[in-house]
Amino acid sequence: MLDHLFCNVNLPDGTEGVDVGIREGKIVVVEKGLDAEALQTTEGKNCMLSAPFVDSHFHMDATLSLGQPRLNQSGTLLEGIQLWGELKPELTHEAIKDRALRYCDLAVSQGLLAVRSHVDVCDSRLLAVEALLEVKNQVKPYLDLQLVAFPQDGFYRSKNAESNLLKALDLGVEVVGGIPHFERTMEEGRLSVDALCRIAADRGLMVDMHCDESDDPMSRHVESLASVAIRYGLQGRVTGSHLTSMHSMDNYYVSKLIPLMLESGMHAIANPLINITLQGRHDSYPKRRGMTRVPELMASGINVAFGHDCVMDPWYPLGTADMLEVANMGLHVAQMTGIEAMKSCYQAVTANAACIMNLEGYGLQPGCNADLVMLEAHDPIEAIRLKAKRRMVMRRGKVIAENPSTPTRLNLDGRRSELDQRFV
Ligand code: FE2
Repeated sequence: MLDHLFCNVNLPDGTEGVDVGIREGKIVVVEKGLDAEALQTTEGKNCMLSAPFVDSHFHMDATLSLGQPRLNQSGTLLEGIQLWGELKPELTHEAIKDRALRYCDLAVSQGLLAVRSHVDVCDSRLLAVEALLEVKNQVKPYLDLQLVAFPQDGFYRSKNAESNLLKALDLGVEVVGGIPHFERTMEEGRLSVDALCRIAADRGLMVDMHCDESDDPMSRHVESLASVAIRYGLQGRVTGSHLTSMHSMDNYYVSKLIPLMLESGMHAIANPLINITLQGRHDSYPKRRGMTRVPELMASGINVAFGHDCVMDPWYPLGTADMLEVANMGLHVAQMTGIEAMKSCYQAVTANAACIMNLEGYGLQPGCNADLVMLEAHDPIEAIRLKAKRRMVMRRGKVIAENPSTPTRLNLDGRRSELDQRFV
C-alpha cells in the first residue's frame, strides 16, 4: 500500500503520463500504468511533477526589508551596500527572524524547498547569524536552509570580519563566503580568496564567494578562486557567485579562464534579475547586460545555476520567491531560446542548484526524498513560459501546500468562456 500516488504526470525529462508512488517519505516507484493502491491519489493529467525548486544564492537576512530605513534612490549596488549599512544597527533578532520566516512561507508556496542564504557576519553582534540559525532549525521539516558566512563589507576591509566569520562557522554556519572585488585592492582581494579557502580546507567546508560582481574586465578573482581551489584540494566544493566581470572580459582571456574553472570543479551561479539591473550602471549606450557567460559555461561542462539573490531588500525592490521568474529572466538575458537551452534554464533552478548545495536524496528516482512540486504545465519550457501555477507542494511525502486548479471565467459581451491559461 502506497501513502500517495500521482497518476499520469509528466516529468521534466520529457517522460509523459507516468505514475509516481510515495511511501514513508520517499519515492518508491516511477512507472507507467502502475497497478497499486494508495491512501491518497492525485490525478496529474497535463501537469508536470518535478523535484522542488532550489535557490542556491539568496540573502535571507535582508529580505523583505524594503524601505527600511529608506529606499535605494539610485538603484545601484553601492547605494544598496550603504543602505544595508544604515539598516544594520537597527536590526533586531526578532525582526530578522520574522522576515525570514515570512519569506520561507512564500518560498514553500512556490515549491521552493531549498535555499542557500548568505548571512552578513560584519556586525560583531552576529544577530543575523543567530537569528537565521534558529530559522534554519525551525523550518527544517519543510525547507532546507543552508547558510554562508558572508563578510559583506570585506574580509580585510571590515574590522573584525575575520574573527566574526570564524565565530559564525563555530556556531554552525556551514559554507565560507567572500567578496574579493570589494576589498581595498586587487591584491587584498586575492589574499582574501586564499585565506578564506584555507579556512574552508582546514574545516572541511564548502566555499561560495561573491566573485567579481563588477563590470571590470580586468578583475581576476575568478582565476584566483579556481587556482586556490585546486591548490587546497577543494575541487567540486567551490562556487563562484555572480562572476559578472566575465561578461566584459576579453574573449581570449575567457578562453583560458573557463577551462581553469572546469579543472577546479567550480560551480557557477548567475543571478539574472539582479545582474541585469545592477550591472552596466556606468555605461551610457550600449549598456552591458552584465550577466556572466551562462551558455558558454554550461557548454564547457561547468555546473551553472540561477539564483534569486534578493527579494524586496536594499538591492532589489521586486521579486516573489518564484524561481520560474528567475529562469525566465535568465533565459532572456542569456538569449537561451533554443529548445535544449530553455530546458537547461529549468535545470538551473532545480537539479543544478541542488548539486551546488550538495542536497542528499534530491531527484525523482526511486529512493529519493518525496520532495515534489506539481505544476500546471506540460513540460519545463511551458513551466517557464507561464511561470506555472503550483498545484501541490510535497515535503517528505506530506502535502504542505495546495492550490487547486481554477480557470479564469470570462464574460465578454455575453460570450462566456473559461480560460485555461495553460493553452493561451
Ligand atoms: Fe548576493
